[in-house]
Amino acid sequence: MRLLVCDNYDEMSRRAAETLADRVTQKPDCVLGLATGSTPLGAYERLVTMVREGRLDLSRVTTVNLDEYRGLGEESDRSYVSFMRTHLFDGAGIPKEHTHFPDGTDPDSDHACRVYEEVLASVGRQDLQLLGLGRNGHIGFNEPGDAFIPGVHLVDLASSTIEANKRFFASEAEVPRQAYTMGMRAILAAKEILLIASGVDKADAVKAAFRGPVTPQVPASVLQLHPDVTVVVDQEAYSKCM
Ligand code: F6R
Repeated sequence: MRLLVCDNYDEMSRRAAETLADRVTQKPDCVLGLATGSTPLGAYERLVTMVREGRLDLSRVTTVNLDEYRGLGEESDRSYVSFMRTHLFDGAGIPKEHTHFPDGTDPDSDHACRVYEEVLASVGRQDLQLLGLGRNGHIGFNEPGDAFIPGVHLVDLASSTIEANKRFFASEAEVPRQAYTMGMRAILAAKEILLIASGVDKADAVKAAFRGPVTPQVPASVLQLHPDVTVVVDQEAYSKCM
């Protein structure tokens, strides 16, 4: 695992965007695993700028996103599919049919999980999986628990996740209590993983995940077992590792 400490959020975002752009330049039809949340916004903005300035072509990539809230789909501006269209896909010219999410609107949760597992299998291994990091150490919505869960699954979101994500909703009561997430098997199947984390509220999670034991109580710690992981953090997120 490589750990790269940047001065601040901007530098972290620049490095993440450069890594993504480099992999797409090397393989224009690559498969990118993508994350939502605040952390990747700066990187996504840079990718959109590169595309607008003609320095990057993302039109041939295929994307698989990590997760989606149960009950939300493209008709909701709070869904992750809407988030990705707003912050990356539309501006970067990634065709809708190249992008994939768990179907948050499927009333049958077992079916939703099965279908997304099939989607992941048909798309093939991610060439690069981008990850953020939850304050509790989650990746995707693989929350702390007694075991790493391999497959796509429906999750009861941890109260700390609901609290952290309420900023995207009108109130905490509106945050869905459940979500679908890619499981650890598909995350670890990625050929390369890039995890980004910024801010002091991630410092405990960074330390626990990358300086502590591999344990399902800290889901991101499983990345220690992957052969090609780059962790890019800013000084604040790194502050408890020193
Ligand atoms: C979202 C996801 C989550 C976030 C994590 C950090 O698709 O996979 O694991 O990466 O909750 O979120 P932010 O970046 O908002 O702090």
